[in-house]
Amino acid sequence: MLVQLIREILAEKPESQKIDVRGWVRTVRDMKNMVFVEVNDGSCLAGIQCTFDRGGAGSNFDAETEAALGALSTGAAVLITGQLIPSPASGQSVELAAQSLQIIGEAREYPGIPAYPLQKKRHSMEFLREIAHLRPRTNTFGAVLRIRSRMAYAIHQYFCDRGFQYIHTPIITAGDAEGAGSMFQVTTLDIDALAKGNTQQVDYAKDFFGTKTFLTVSGQLEAETCATALSRVYTFGPTFRAENSNTARHLAEFWMLEPEVAFFALKDNMALAEDFLKCMFKTALADCAEDLAFFNAHVEKGIIETLTQVVNARFVHISYTDAIAELEKAAAGGVAFEFKPQWGCDLQSEHEKFLTEKIAGGPVIVTDYPKDIKAFYMKLNDDGKTVRAMDVLVPRLGEIIGGSQREDNLEKLCKRMIDMGMNPDDYAWYLDLRRYGSVPHAGFGLGFERLIQYITGMANIRDVIPYPRAAGQIMRS
Ligand code: 4AD
Ligand code: MG
Repeated sequence: MLVQLIREILAEKPESQKIDVRGWVRTVRDMKNMVFVEVNDGSCLAGIQCTFDRGGAGSNFDAETEAALGALSTGAAVLITGQLIPSPASGQSVELAAQSLQIIGEAREYPGIPAYPLQKKRHSMEFLREIAHLRPRTNTFGAVLRIRSRMAYAIHQYFCDRGFQYIHTPIITAGDAEGAGSMFQVTTLDIDALAKGNTQQVDYAKDFFGTKTFLTVSGQLEAETCATALSRVYTFGPTFRAENSNTARHLAEFWMLEPEVAFFALKDNMALAEDFLKCMFKTALADCAEDLAFFNAHVEKGIIETLTQVVNARFVHISYTDAIAELEKAAAGGVAFEFKPQWGCDLQSEHEKFLTEKIAGGPVIVTDYPKDIKAFYMKLNDDGKTVRAMDVLVPRLGEIIGGSQREDNLEKLCKRMIDMGMNPDDYAWYLDLRRYGSVPHAGFGLGFERLIQYITGMANIRDVIPYPRAAGQIMRS
Protein backbone atom coordinates (compact mmCIF):
# COMPACT_ATOMS: atom_id res chain seq x y z
CA MET A 1 0.00 0.00 0.00
CA LEU A 2 1.19 3.51 -0.77
CA VAL A 3 1.74 5.81 2.18
CA GLN A 4 -0.29 8.98 2.22
CA LEU A 5 1.31 12.00 0.57
CA ILE A 6 1.28 15.45 2.12
CA ARG A 7 -0.63 16.68 -0.94
CA GLU A 8 -3.38 14.22 -0.07
CA ILE A 9 -3.29 15.07 3.63
CA LEU A 10 -3.63 18.80 2.90
CA ALA A 11 -6.74 18.09 0.86
CA GLU A 12 -8.44 16.20 3.70
CA LYS A 13 -11.12 17.71 5.90
CA PRO A 14 -9.58 18.34 9.36
CA GLU A 15 -11.71 16.33 11.77
CA SER A 16 -9.01 15.45 14.29
CA GLN A 17 -8.44 12.18 12.44
CA LYS A 18 -5.18 10.37 13.10
CA ILE A 19 -2.62 10.99 10.38
CA ASP A 20 0.94 9.85 9.65
CA VAL A 21 3.14 12.47 8.03
CA ARG A 22 6.30 11.29 6.29
CA GLY A 23 8.85 13.54 4.67
CA TRP A 24 11.92 15.69 5.15
CA VAL A 25 12.20 18.48 7.67
CA ARG A 26 12.41 21.95 6.19
CA THR A 27 12.46 23.98 9.41
CA VAL A 28 12.36 23.44 13.15
CA ARG A 29 11.31 26.31 15.41
CA ASP A 30 11.56 25.56 19.10
CA MET A 31 9.56 28.16 21.08
CA LYS A 32 9.88 26.49 24.47
CA ASN A 33 6.24 25.49 24.94
CA MET A 34 5.64 24.86 21.28
CA VAL A 35 7.83 23.29 18.64
CA PHE A 36 6.90 23.87 15.00
CA VAL A 37 8.27 21.43 12.47
CA GLU A 38 7.59 21.96 8.79
CA VAL A 39 7.71 18.78 6.77
CA ASN A 40 7.79 18.54 2.99
CA ASP A 41 7.61 15.38 0.88
CA GLY A 42 7.81 16.94 -2.58
CA SER A 43 4.30 15.84 -3.53
CA CYS A 44 3.40 19.52 -3.64
CA LEU A 45 5.08 22.83 -2.96
CA ALA A 46 3.50 23.30 0.45
CA GLY A 47 4.69 21.43 3.45
CA ILE A 48 2.62 20.57 6.48
CA GLN A 49 3.13 22.27 9.78
CA CYS A 50 3.41 19.83 12.68
CA THR A 51 2.93 21.43 16.07
CA PHE A 52 4.30 19.85 19.23
CA ASP A 53 2.62 21.34 22.30
CA ARG A 54 4.78 20.89 25.38
CA GLY A 55 2.61 22.81 27.78
CA GLY A 56 -1.03 22.68 26.80
CA ALA A 57 -3.63 20.14 27.73
CA GLY A 58 -3.17 18.52 24.35
CA SER A 59 0.40 17.65 25.21
CA ASN A 60 0.73 13.94 25.41
CA PHE A 61 3.92 13.04 23.71
CA ASP A 62 6.41 10.76 25.35
CA ALA A 63 10.05 11.04 26.35
CA GLU A 64 11.16 9.34 23.14
CA THR A 65 9.50 12.07 21.09
CA GLU A 66 11.01 14.76 23.31
CA ALA A 67 14.47 13.25 22.73
CA ALA A 68 13.84 13.06 18.96
CA LEU A 69 12.79 16.74 18.97
CA GLY A 70 16.09 17.61 20.59
CA ALA A 71 18.01 15.80 17.88
CA LEU A 72 15.94 17.08 14.96
CA SER A 73 17.52 19.17 12.23
CA THR A 74 16.73 20.45 8.76
CA GLY A 75 17.03 17.71 6.15
CA ALA A 76 16.18 14.81 8.45
CA ALA A 77 13.61 12.26 7.31
CA VAL A 78 10.78 11.84 9.81
CA LEU A 79 7.55 10.09 10.61
CA ILE A 80 5.24 12.30 12.65
CA THR A 81 1.91 11.07 13.93
CA GLY A 82 -0.87 13.27 15.20
CA GLN A 83 -4.31 14.66 14.59
CA LEU A 84 -5.29 16.74 11.59
CA ILE A 85 -6.89 19.97 12.79
CA PRO A 86 -7.91 23.30 11.24
CA SER A 87 -4.92 25.60 11.41
CA PRO A 88 -5.14 28.80 13.42
CA ALA A 89 -2.17 30.16 11.46
CA SER A 90 -2.70 32.11 8.27
CA GLY A 91 -1.59 30.68 4.92
CA GLN A 92 -2.50 27.09 5.68
CA SER A 93 -5.86 25.45 6.18
CA VAL A 94 -4.78 22.45 8.22
CA GLU A 95 -1.96 21.43 10.48
CA LEU A 96 -0.95 18.44 12.54
CA ALA A 97 -1.34 18.45 16.31
CA ALA A 98 1.65 16.17 16.67
CA GLN A 99 1.79 13.35 19.18
CA SER A 100 4.87 11.40 18.25
CA LEU A 101 8.02 11.92 16.25
CA GLN A 102 10.34 9.33 14.89
CA ILE A 103 13.53 10.25 13.06
CA ILE A 104 13.77 7.83 10.15
CA GLY A 105 17.04 9.24 8.85
CA GLU A 106 19.06 11.95 10.53
CA ALA A 107 20.75 14.74 8.56
CA ARG A 108 23.97 14.31 10.44
CA GLU A 109 27.21 16.17 10.52
CA TYR A 110 30.29 14.12 9.72
CA PRO A 111 33.86 15.17 10.47
CA GLY A 112 35.40 16.91 7.50
CA ILE A 113 32.16 16.96 5.50
CA PRO A 114 30.02 20.10 5.21
CA ALA A 115 26.76 20.11 7.16
CA TYR A 116 23.47 19.63 5.26
CA PRO A 117 23.83 22.38 2.67
CA LEU A 118 20.17 23.30 2.19
CA GLN A 119 19.46 25.57 5.10
CA LYS A 120 16.46 27.89 5.09
CA LYS A 121 17.86 30.65 2.92
CA ARG A 122 18.10 31.54 -0.73
CA HIS A 123 20.83 29.64 -2.53
CA SER A 124 22.17 30.72 -5.90
CA MET A 125 21.35 28.59 -8.93
CA GLU A 126 25.09 28.15 -9.54
CA PHE A 127 25.59 26.75 -6.05
CA LEU A 128 22.61 24.43 -6.41
CA ARG A 129 23.97 23.15 -9.72
CA GLU A 130 27.02 21.91 -7.80
CA ILE A 131 24.77 19.84 -5.55
CA ALA A 132 22.41 18.61 -8.24
CA HIS A 133 21.78 15.46 -6.19
CA LEU A 134 20.24 17.51 -3.35
CA ARG A 135 18.55 20.32 -5.23
CA PRO A 136 15.31 18.37 -5.82
CA ARG A 137 14.71 19.11 -2.12
CA THR A 138 14.45 22.84 -2.73
CA ASN A 139 11.19 24.61 -3.51
CA THR A 140 12.39 25.70 -6.94
CA PHE A 141 13.54 22.30 -8.15
CA GLY A 142 10.65 20.46 -6.61
CA ALA A 143 8.36 22.76 -8.60
CA VAL A 144 10.43 22.36 -11.78
CA LEU A 145 10.37 18.57 -11.48
CA ARG A 146 6.63 18.43 -10.84
CA ILE A 147 5.93 20.66 -13.84
CA ARG A 148 8.32 18.58 -16.00
CA SER A 149 6.49 15.44 -15.00
CA ARG A 150 3.05 16.90 -15.66
CA MET A 151 4.13 18.27 -19.05
CA ALA A 152 5.65 14.96 -20.13
CA TYR A 153 2.36 13.29 -19.33
CA ALA A 154 0.44 16.10 -21.06
CA ILE A 155 2.44 15.44 -24.23
CA HIS A 156 1.37 11.80 -24.24
CA GLN A 157 -2.23 12.77 -23.48
CA TYR A 158 -2.32 15.35 -26.27
CA PHE A 159 -1.07 13.01 -28.96
CA CYS A 160 -2.85 9.91 -27.74
CA ASP A 161 -6.16 11.82 -27.79
CA ARG A 162 -5.55 12.74 -31.42
CA GLY A 163 -4.77 9.30 -32.78
CA PHE A 164 -0.97 9.52 -32.77
CA GLN A 165 1.11 6.42 -32.08
CA TYR A 166 4.08 6.75 -29.73
CA ILE A 167 7.24 5.47 -31.44
CA HIS A 168 10.52 4.65 -29.71
CA THR A 169 13.23 5.78 -32.07
CA PRO A 170 16.83 4.64 -31.57
CA ILE A 171 19.42 6.42 -29.46
CA ILE A 172 22.41 4.94 -31.28
CA THR A 173 22.52 5.71 -34.99
CA ALA A 174 24.87 5.41 -37.90
CA GLY A 175 23.67 8.58 -39.61
CA ASP A 176 23.36 12.30 -39.00
CA ALA A 177 19.66 13.23 -39.02
CA GLU A 178 20.23 16.96 -39.11
CA GLY A 179 23.31 16.94 -41.36
CA ALA A 180 24.78 19.35 -38.86
CA GLY A 181 27.71 17.24 -37.77
CA SER A 182 27.69 18.00 -34.03
CA MET A 183 27.39 14.41 -32.83
CA PHE A 184 28.81 12.36 -29.99
CA GLN A 185 30.60 9.28 -31.23
CA VAL A 186 29.76 5.91 -29.67
CA THR A 187 32.53 3.36 -29.71
CA THR A 188 33.90 0.36 -27.89
CA LEU A 189 37.30 0.79 -29.51
CA ASP A 190 40.06 1.30 -26.98
CA ILE A 191 40.85 4.96 -27.57
CA ASP A 192 43.82 4.93 -25.20
CA ALA A 193 45.39 1.99 -27.02
CA LEU A 194 44.69 3.61 -30.38
CA ALA A 195 46.35 6.80 -29.19
CA LYS A 196 49.43 4.90 -28.00
CA GLY A 197 49.68 3.11 -31.31
CA ASN A 198 49.74 6.49 -33.06
CA THR A 199 47.08 5.20 -35.44
CA GLN A 200 46.77 7.06 -38.71
CA GLN A 201 43.43 5.55 -39.63
CA VAL A 202 40.91 3.89 -37.34
CA ASP A 203 39.42 0.65 -38.62
CA TYR A 204 35.74 1.01 -37.78
CA ALA A 205 35.05 -2.47 -39.10
CA LYS A 206 36.53 -3.53 -35.76
CA ASP A 207 34.17 -1.27 -33.79
CA PHE A 208 31.11 -2.69 -32.01
CA PHE A 209 28.68 -2.25 -34.90
CA GLY A 210 31.30 -2.64 -37.62
CA THR A 211 30.83 0.98 -38.60
CA LYS A 212 31.12 4.46 -37.11
CA THR A 213 28.17 5.21 -34.78
CA PHE A 214 26.81 8.15 -32.82
CA LEU A 215 24.22 9.26 -30.28
CA THR A 216 21.18 10.54 -32.11
CA VAL A 217 20.58 14.26 -32.68
CA SER A 218 16.93 13.64 -33.62
CA GLY A 219 14.50 10.78 -34.05
CA GLN A 220 12.84 12.45 -37.01
CA LEU A 221 14.07 10.29 -39.87
CA GLU A 222 12.99 7.11 -38.13
CA ALA A 223 9.71 8.79 -37.14
CA GLU A 224 9.13 9.50 -40.84
CA THR A 225 9.39 5.78 -41.59
CA CYS A 226 6.57 5.17 -39.12
CA ALA A 227 4.47 8.18 -40.18
CA THR A 228 4.42 6.83 -43.71
CA ALA A 229 2.91 3.64 -42.31
CA LEU A 230 0.84 4.65 -39.27
CA SER A 231 -0.12 8.18 -40.46
CA ARG A 232 0.29 10.03 -37.18
CA VAL A 233 3.24 9.31 -34.89
CA TYR A 234 5.45 11.02 -32.36
CA THR A 235 8.69 10.24 -30.65
CA PHE A 236 9.77 11.71 -27.33
CA GLY A 237 13.14 10.92 -25.88
CA PRO A 238 16.67 12.01 -25.14
CA THR A 239 18.69 13.70 -27.88
CA PHE A 240 22.37 14.57 -27.94
CA ARG A 241 24.26 17.42 -29.50
CA ALA A 242 27.96 18.06 -29.13
CA GLU A 243 27.54 21.76 -29.84
CA ASN A 244 30.05 23.74 -27.91
CA SER A 245 27.55 26.47 -27.17
CA ASN A 246 27.77 27.59 -23.61
CA THR A 247 24.43 29.37 -23.47
CA ALA A 248 21.42 29.46 -21.17
CA ARG A 249 19.34 27.53 -23.75
CA HIS A 250 21.62 24.74 -24.98
CA LEU A 251 22.31 21.37 -23.45
CA ALA A 252 24.42 18.50 -24.75
CA GLU A 253 21.70 16.06 -23.64
CA PHE A 254 18.10 17.20 -23.86
CA TRP A 255 14.67 15.74 -24.48
CA MET A 256 12.90 16.31 -27.74
CA LEU A 257 9.32 15.72 -28.77
CA GLU A 258 8.88 15.08 -32.49
CA PRO A 259 5.46 14.53 -34.04
CA GLU A 260 5.40 13.47 -37.70
CA VAL A 261 2.22 13.40 -39.78
CA ALA A 262 1.44 11.93 -43.19
CA PHE A 263 -0.69 13.94 -45.64
CA PHE A 264 0.34 17.11 -43.84
CA ALA A 265 1.54 20.40 -45.27
CA LEU A 266 3.44 23.28 -43.68
CA LYS A 267 0.23 25.18 -42.82
CA ASP A 268 -1.19 22.12 -41.03
CA ASN A 269 2.09 21.70 -39.18
CA MET A 270 2.01 25.33 -38.02
CA ALA A 271 -1.54 24.94 -36.77
CA LEU A 272 -0.64 21.73 -34.92
CA ALA A 273 2.38 23.35 -33.24
CA GLU A 274 0.31 26.34 -32.11
CA ASP A 275 -2.57 24.25 -30.81
CA PHE A 276 -0.17 21.87 -29.06
CA LEU A 277 1.77 24.65 -27.29
CA LYS A 278 -1.43 26.35 -26.16
CA CYS A 279 -2.71 23.07 -24.81
CA MET A 280 0.53 22.61 -22.84
CA PHE A 281 0.22 26.10 -21.34
CA LYS A 282 -3.45 25.55 -20.50
CA THR A 283 -2.62 22.30 -18.74
CA ALA A 284 0.17 23.96 -16.77
CA LEU A 285 -2.14 26.80 -15.72
CA ALA A 286 -4.89 24.41 -14.69
CA ASP A 287 -2.93 21.57 -13.12
CA CYS A 288 0.24 23.21 -11.82
CA ALA A 289 -1.32 26.32 -10.33
CA GLU A 290 0.48 26.16 -6.99
CA ASP A 291 3.90 25.71 -8.58
CA LEU A 292 3.23 28.39 -11.21
CA ALA A 293 2.22 30.82 -8.48
CA PHE A 294 5.63 30.16 -6.92
CA PHE A 295 7.45 30.92 -10.19
CA ASN A 296 5.24 33.97 -10.68
CA ALA A 297 6.21 35.30 -7.26
CA HIS A 298 9.88 34.34 -7.09
CA VAL A 299 11.29 33.66 -10.54
CA GLU A 300 9.54 35.49 -13.38
CA LYS A 301 6.98 38.07 -12.35
CA GLY A 302 3.94 38.02 -14.62
CA ILE A 303 4.54 34.53 -16.03
CA ILE A 304 0.96 33.45 -15.28
CA GLU A 305 -0.44 36.46 -17.10
CA THR A 306 1.89 35.88 -20.03
CA LEU A 307 0.88 32.24 -20.38
CA THR A 308 -2.79 33.16 -20.11
CA GLN A 309 -2.40 35.78 -22.83
CA VAL A 310 -0.56 33.39 -25.12
CA VAL A 311 -3.29 30.78 -24.75
CA ASN A 312 -5.84 33.34 -25.89
CA ALA A 313 -3.92 35.04 -28.69
CA ARG A 314 -3.11 33.95 -32.22
CA PHE A 315 0.55 33.37 -32.98
CA VAL A 316 1.93 35.86 -35.49
CA HIS A 317 2.99 34.27 -38.79
CA ILE A 318 5.77 35.85 -40.82
CA SER A 319 7.98 34.59 -43.64
CA TYR A 320 11.73 34.68 -43.15
CA THR A 321 11.99 37.18 -46.01
CA ASP A 322 9.50 39.54 -44.35
CA ALA A 323 11.17 39.04 -40.98
CA ILE A 324 14.54 40.08 -42.43
CA ALA A 325 12.88 43.12 -44.02
CA GLU A 326 11.47 44.10 -40.60
CA LEU A 327 14.86 43.64 -38.96
CA GLU A 328 16.62 45.64 -41.67
CA LYS A 329 14.05 48.39 -41.21
CA ALA A 330 14.70 48.36 -37.47
CA ALA A 331 18.46 48.46 -38.01
CA ALA A 332 18.07 51.40 -40.39
CA GLY A 333 15.90 53.08 -37.76
CA GLY A 334 18.69 52.88 -35.20
CA VAL A 335 18.27 49.52 -33.45
CA ALA A 336 21.79 48.27 -32.76
CA PHE A 337 22.18 44.59 -33.66
CA GLU A 338 25.50 42.90 -33.11
CA PHE A 339 24.90 40.81 -36.24
CA LYS A 340 23.64 42.77 -39.22
CA PRO A 341 20.39 41.22 -40.42
CA GLN A 342 20.53 40.31 -44.10
CA TRP A 343 18.79 37.82 -46.35
CA GLY A 344 20.58 34.48 -46.18
CA CYS A 345 21.89 34.75 -42.64
CA ASP A 346 20.57 32.61 -39.82
CA LEU A 347 18.45 34.50 -37.31
CA GLN A 348 20.58 35.26 -34.27
CA SER A 349 19.05 35.22 -30.83
CA GLU A 350 19.02 39.04 -30.76
CA HIS A 351 16.94 38.95 -33.97
CA GLU A 352 14.57 36.35 -32.52
CA LYS A 353 14.25 38.49 -29.40
CA PHE A 354 13.41 41.55 -31.45
CA LEU A 355 10.82 39.73 -33.57
CA THR A 356 9.02 38.23 -30.58
CA GLU A 357 9.34 41.01 -28.03
CA LYS A 358 9.25 44.17 -30.16
CA ILE A 359 7.37 43.23 -33.33
CA ALA A 360 4.91 40.53 -32.29
CA GLY A 361 4.72 40.94 -28.53
CA GLY A 362 4.38 37.17 -28.24
CA PRO A 363 5.12 33.93 -30.09
CA VAL A 364 5.96 34.13 -33.78
CA ILE A 365 6.12 31.42 -36.42
CA VAL A 366 8.78 32.24 -39.00
CA THR A 367 8.47 30.24 -42.21
CA ASP A 368 10.19 29.64 -45.54
CA TYR A 369 13.86 30.03 -44.62
CA PRO A 370 16.66 30.04 -47.21
CA LYS A 371 17.52 26.45 -48.08
CA ASP A 372 21.22 26.97 -47.37
CA ILE A 373 20.70 27.44 -43.63
CA LYS A 374 18.33 24.53 -43.15
CA ALA A 375 18.54 20.73 -43.11
CA PHE A 376 18.60 18.59 -46.27
CA TYR A 377 15.16 17.01 -45.77
CA MET A 378 13.05 20.18 -45.97
CA LYS A 379 10.76 20.62 -48.96
CA LEU A 380 12.01 23.05 -51.56
CA ASN A 381 9.63 25.89 -52.44
CA ASP A 382 8.87 26.75 -56.06
CA ASP A 383 11.23 29.74 -55.85
CA GLY A 384 14.13 27.27 -55.67
CA LYS A 385 15.68 29.36 -52.89
CA THR A 386 13.61 28.73 -49.77
CA VAL A 387 12.31 25.65 -48.00
CA ARG A 388 9.05 24.92 -46.19
CA ALA A 389 10.58 25.35 -42.76
CA MET A 390 8.97 26.79 -39.65
CA ASP A 391 10.50 27.91 -36.40
CA VAL A 392 8.28 28.86 -33.47
CA LEU A 393 9.96 31.66 -31.55
CA VAL A 394 8.92 32.88 -28.12
CA PRO A 395 9.93 35.93 -26.06
CA ARG A 396 12.90 35.45 -23.71
CA LEU A 397 14.01 32.18 -25.31
CA GLY A 398 13.84 32.44 -29.07
CA GLU A 399 13.39 29.11 -30.87
CA ILE A 400 11.27 26.62 -28.98
CA ILE A 401 10.14 24.53 -31.97
CA GLY A 402 11.78 23.80 -35.33
CA GLY A 403 9.99 21.89 -38.05
CA SER A 404 9.16 21.62 -41.70
CA GLN A 405 7.27 19.94 -44.47
CA ARG A 406 9.58 17.21 -45.76
CA GLU A 407 10.86 16.82 -49.31
CA ASP A 408 8.75 14.01 -50.73
CA ASN A 409 10.18 14.10 -54.26
CA LEU A 410 12.93 11.50 -54.73
CA GLU A 411 14.95 13.39 -57.37
CA LYS A 412 14.86 16.69 -55.54
CA LEU A 413 15.85 15.07 -52.26
CA CYS A 414 18.78 13.22 -53.86
CA LYS A 415 19.98 16.37 -55.58
CA ARG A 416 19.80 18.29 -52.33
CA MET A 417 21.81 15.63 -50.50
CA ILE A 418 24.50 15.61 -53.14
CA ASP A 419 24.64 19.43 -53.14
CA MET A 420 25.20 19.27 -49.40
CA GLY A 421 28.02 16.75 -49.70
CA MET A 422 25.98 13.81 -48.40
CA ASN A 423 26.02 10.38 -49.96
CA PRO A 424 22.44 9.29 -50.87
CA ASP A 425 23.55 5.65 -50.67
CA ASP A 426 24.00 6.10 -46.90
CA TYR A 427 20.32 7.04 -46.68
CA ALA A 428 18.89 4.42 -49.05
CA TRP A 429 16.32 3.37 -46.45
CA TYR A 430 15.15 6.99 -46.04
CA LEU A 431 14.94 7.46 -49.79
CA ASP A 432 12.79 4.31 -50.03
CA LEU A 433 10.02 6.31 -48.35
CA ARG A 434 10.05 8.50 -51.48
CA ARG A 435 10.21 5.47 -53.77
CA TYR A 436 7.30 3.53 -52.35
CA GLY A 437 4.07 5.38 -51.66
CA SER A 438 5.58 8.81 -51.06
CA VAL A 439 3.21 11.37 -49.54
CA PRO A 440 3.46 14.97 -48.43
CA HIS A 441 4.31 14.91 -44.75
CA ALA A 442 5.49 17.27 -42.08
CA GLY A 443 6.52 17.42 -38.46
CA PHE A 444 8.38 19.38 -35.86
CA GLY A 445 10.71 19.11 -32.91
CA LEU A 446 10.09 20.72 -29.55
CA GLY A 447 12.95 21.11 -27.09
CA PHE A 448 11.29 19.84 -23.91
CA GLU A 449 13.59 21.79 -21.59
CA ARG A 450 12.86 24.99 -23.52
CA LEU A 451 9.15 24.34 -22.99
CA ILE A 452 9.77 23.97 -19.26
CA GLN A 453 11.92 27.11 -19.27
CA TYR A 454 9.16 29.03 -20.98
CA ILE A 455 6.47 27.83 -18.59
CA THR A 456 8.48 28.35 -15.40
CA GLY A 457 10.43 31.44 -16.40
CA MET A 458 13.66 29.76 -15.29
CA ALA A 459 16.54 31.69 -16.83
CA ASN A 460 18.98 28.83 -17.40
CA ILE A 461 18.19 25.57 -19.18
CA ARG A 462 20.56 23.75 -16.79
CA ASP A 463 18.04 24.40 -14.05
CA VAL A 464 15.07 22.67 -15.66
CA ILE A 465 16.59 19.18 -16.03
CA PRO A 466 17.64 17.05 -13.06
CA TYR A 467 21.19 16.44 -14.27
CA PRO A 468 22.36 18.96 -16.85
CA ARG A 469 25.02 17.89 -19.32
CA ALA A 470 26.67 20.74 -21.14
CA ALA A 471 30.11 21.35 -22.64
CA GLY A 472 32.63 21.00 -19.84
CA GLN A 473 29.97 20.14 -17.26
CA ILE A 474 28.96 16.71 -16.05
CA MET A 475 28.01 15.44 -12.61
CA ARG A 476 28.76 11.94 -11.47
CA SER A 477 25.11 11.26 -10.83
O1 4AD B 1 15.45 22.76 -34.77
P1 4AD B 1 15.97 21.39 -34.44
O2 4AD B 1 17.42 21.14 -34.64
O3 4AD B 1 15.08 20.40 -35.30
C1 4AD B 1 15.25 19.06 -35.40
O4 4AD B 1 16.05 18.40 -34.80
C2 4AD B 1 14.22 18.43 -36.30
N1 4AD B 1 14.66 17.06 -36.60
C3 4AD B 1 12.87 18.45 -35.64
C4 4AD B 1 11.78 17.87 -36.48
O5 4AD B 1 11.37 18.50 -37.43
N2 4AD B 1 11.31 16.68 -36.17
O6 4AD B 1 15.61 21.05 -32.92
C5 4AD B 1 14.28 21.09 -32.48
C6 4AD B 1 14.18 21.80 -31.15
C7 4AD B 1 14.65 23.24 -31.19
O7 4AD B 1 13.64 24.09 -31.66
C8 4AD B 1 14.97 23.50 -29.74
O8 4AD B 1 13.80 23.78 -29.00
C9 4AD B 1 15.50 22.15 -29.29
O9 4AD B 1 15.03 21.18 -30.19
N3 4AD B 1 16.97 22.12 -29.25
C10 4AD B 1 17.70 22.15 -28.12
N4 4AD B 1 17.32 22.23 -26.83
C11 4AD B 1 18.31 22.22 -25.90
N5 4AD B 1 19.62 22.15 -26.20
C12 4AD B 1 20.05 22.07 -27.48
N6 4AD B 1 21.36 21.95 -27.76
C13 4AD B 1 19.06 22.07 -28.51
N7 4AD B 1 19.10 21.99 -29.85
C14 4AD B 1 17.81 22.02 -30.27
MG1 MG C 1 16.19 24.59 -35.32
